Amino acid sequence: MNSAEIRQKFLDFFASKQHQIVPSAPIVVKDDPTLMFINSGMAPFKDYFLGNKPAPYKRVADTQKCLRVSGKHNDLEEVGYDTYHHTMFEMLGNWSFGDYFKKDALEWSWELLTQVYKLPKDRLYVSVFQGDEKDNLPLDQDAFDIWKSMIAEDRILMGNKKDNFWEMGDTGPCGPCSEIHVDLRTDEERAQVDGKSLVNNDHPQVVEIWNNVFMEFNRLADGSLVKLPAQHVDTGMGFERLCMAIQGKRSNYDTDVFQPLIQFVAKEAGVTYGANEKTDIAIRVISDHIRAIAFTIADGQLPSNNKAGYVIRRILRRAVRYGFTFLDFKKPFLYKLAAVLADQMAHVFPELLQQLSFVQRVIEEEENAFLRTLENGLKRLDALEETFRKNNNTIDGRTAFELYDTFGFPLDLTALIAREKGLKVDEAGFDVEMEQQKNRSRNASATEQTDWVILQPEVVNEFVGYDVESTESHIVRYRQVKTKNKSEYHLVLDKTPFYAESGGQVGDTGYLISDTEQIEVLDTKKENDLILHITAKLPQQVEGTFKSEVDAVRRNLIRKNHSATHLLHAALRKVLGEHVQQRGSLVNEKLLRFDFSHFAKVEEAQLREVEHIVNERIRQAIPLEEQRNVAIGDARNMGAMALFGEKYGEFVRVIAFDREHSVELCGGIHVLNTGNIGYFKIVSESSVAAGVRRIEAITASMAENFVQQQLNELNAVQEVLNSQSNVSGAVQKLQDENKALQKQLEQYELKQLTGLKDTLAQKVQPLDGVNFVAEKVDVSNADYLKKLAFDLRQSVQNLVLVLAAEIDGKPQIAVMLSDNLVSEKNLNASQLVRELAKEIKGGGGGQPFYATAGGKESAGLQAIPAKALELVKNTLKA
Ligand code: ALA
Repeated sequence: MNSAEIRQKFLDFFASKQHQIVPSAPIVVKDDPTLMFINSGMAPFKDYFLGNKPAPYKRVADTQKCLRVSGKHNDLEEVGYDTYHHTMFEMLGNWSFGDYFKKDALEWSWELLTQVYKLPKDRLYVSVFQGDEKDNLPLDQDAFDIWKSMIAEDRILMGNKKDNFWEMGDTGPCGPCSEIHVDLRTDEERAQVDGKSLVNNDHPQVVEIWNNVFMEFNRLADGSLVKLPAQHVDTGMGFERLCMAIQGKRSNYDTDVFQPLIQFVAKEAGVTYGANEKTDIAIRVISDHIRAIAFTIADGQLPSNNKAGYVIRRILRRAVRYGFTFLDFKKPFLYKLAAVLADQMAHVFPELLQQLSFVQRVIEEEENAFLRTLENGLKRLDALEETFRKNNNTIDGRTAFELYDTFGFPLDLTALIAREKGLKVDEAGFDVEMEQQKNRSRNASATEQTDWVILQPEVVNEFVGYDVESTESHIVRYRQVKTKNKSEYHLVLDKTPFYAESGGQVGDTGYLISDTEQIEVLDTKKENDLILHITAKLPQQVEGTFKSEVDAVRRNLIRKNHSATHLLHAALRKVLGEHVQQRGSLVNEKLLRFDFSHFAKVEEAQLREVEHIVNERIRQAIPLEEQRNVAIGDARNMGAMALFGEKYGEFVRVIAFDREHSVELCGGIHVLNTGNIGYFKIVSESSVAAGVRRIEAITASMAENFVQQQLNELNAVQEVLNSQSNVSGAVQKLQDENKALQKQLEQYELKQLTGLKDTLAQKVQPLDGVNFVAEKVDVSNADYLKKLAFDLRQSVQNLVLVLAAEIDGKPQIAVMLSDNLVSEKNLNASQLVRELAKEIKGGGGGQPFYATAGGKESAGLQAIPAKALELVKNTLKA
């Protein structure tokens, strides 16, 4: 069976057991502060387990794109070295939301593995939870009994909390689990060592393939467990490992999931995979990482300097570094792999192919930037080499850390380069620096959050803000969040008109008003499906009735900007082309900011056209067409622009302003009629990342004020110029005149300079065999001072010239000597000028025959001629 067949068989099997098959959710998580990427098949369904939201189907199965490189589940450092860990992987899963439990789950997993996939039973082991005293949990006797009816008792192993109690994170849904492991060693190997002893022991051929979790608990922030409202099943099977087992391979990388990538990389590098452990590791790292990189970028996460973007940047850099160091890739190479992957995955994950050129461009740009950084780091190492040699041939910890922190060199790369140069690295010193940095960032971001105080457990919050701006509400739960500098409360209401920040639109502000108090809502944010009202105070009577009221004035400004964003998006596609896709947006009460894919600067004329189209749409006063709870397929048929990273299989809201023109999936707040936007004005266009442009624009009175300001400015200019029409012509004329005057002035000054030169020549006095002159002169710039000195040298022999002048309010001195005096008379212009500069509190230097100095005190200029005479006299005497 090839990997595509293996995946399909899984889905077909669970479809035959009445499961709804759903597509993978995006790998990048939105609206969940506790998770950046989907790290397991269950993460998109978290709310169903927690009871925050009813599940649309009781049984679901899918293959889910997962990434385990941050947070509780982090495999990054293993990847490439072993044969069965990955950054991005597919997790096949089946779920029961309050429906079937242990018996069906375990029996079906056994049926699928042994009867459909036909894995030999004598190569399988299972494990059950042995219980845990601290959590006060007993042995999972039910699971044990179910297994006993299917598999020999000596193949059932007991597992502790670490292996057999699954938790999504530090808090959240969890429960005992039962794993299935497979032994893929040869018969000889199996005869020598009992497979049982190798389970959960990091053996590359004795690996876990499937985990069945029986979700029953919620772990709270204080570490305690509470029962969930219902019992659920969450299972996860590692797709790549399953392929290894069924295809009889000894490594995930030997399956057809990875081979196309592996062979492509090997060919590019001109090496054979399997011939050398070092190059093999690098090839595996790259073949693994490109999947994480391409899938996350296609789902809307650009590499960047913080949070999720930084995780992607780090993975990408790890891949580049292995290519650079072990495969001699000195130019971008990763981006080429995106096409290989897109081809291979197109039938399951079409987003890769749809966004291919964008993904390639982003990757290539990142690679280029990082390769430059690597080169700079190498230069820095070279420059410090002498210092290291003097330091007992050791690269000190601080430099090693600087290379890591600033240039992206992990310690092993620095150590490798050091070895090549015959140097060592102070690794302990590096660790100290690293620890210090961790402490710094820990202190900066330390937050403390209490558990929810639940007032009404059965109530799910309802958003009524599309229809009203104020309503009667009750608090159903709240908690306090403390950071170093502030403390705030998160309140959840049974019914709320407050829009929580999402889809680029900022959260609403407003008030909760009761008979006795008024609490300000500072912001509204989302945590999954909970709407959090952020306040500085907790009401005294939390159980009371409140009128919750949105700041309607502010919201009206926001809604204008949001609707204008849709019109802008549509106009951009019309003017620039269909490749324009939204990459991000911000809509607040002041402005709208729209990021979109486009590969060149948007020309001025194009911007004007876009602006014109949007304003036309505004004047057409198109009514809002809003449809809630549309199935995603129907929305697409309406022509809705499918944004990247939408969770499929769900119901969406469709916002149209003329179906022929603008149809979008959107949860935001909009004007009822485009006429309400009033007026639209683009204020800037710029680049934010490779292939991504940004437009900022304003609407309504903001736009009117902006234009009025520009006009005021223009009026002021007109008044100054005393010209009512053709202002630019008048300014041009002014500039031309200015240039002409400048020229005249220069000519005049040059004439002056000749006169000055002649005067100076007459003042020359013989002094011990040289011709000496020192004067304070009047010139307007340093170039003239220099010209004067050089001109005089042409006409006077054996010249010692000292000029002092005030230029632009600052004192300057120039000393000029005929060349022969430097050798014959032991005179030196640099020395002289430095000595003289003391008079003007300054310094300078230059060549032996010509030197200049600047200073701070113009008053000192008076003394220069006399001092010069004395100095020169003394030198000549000596
Ligand atoms: N949620 C379980 C896991 O990820 C199935 O292992």
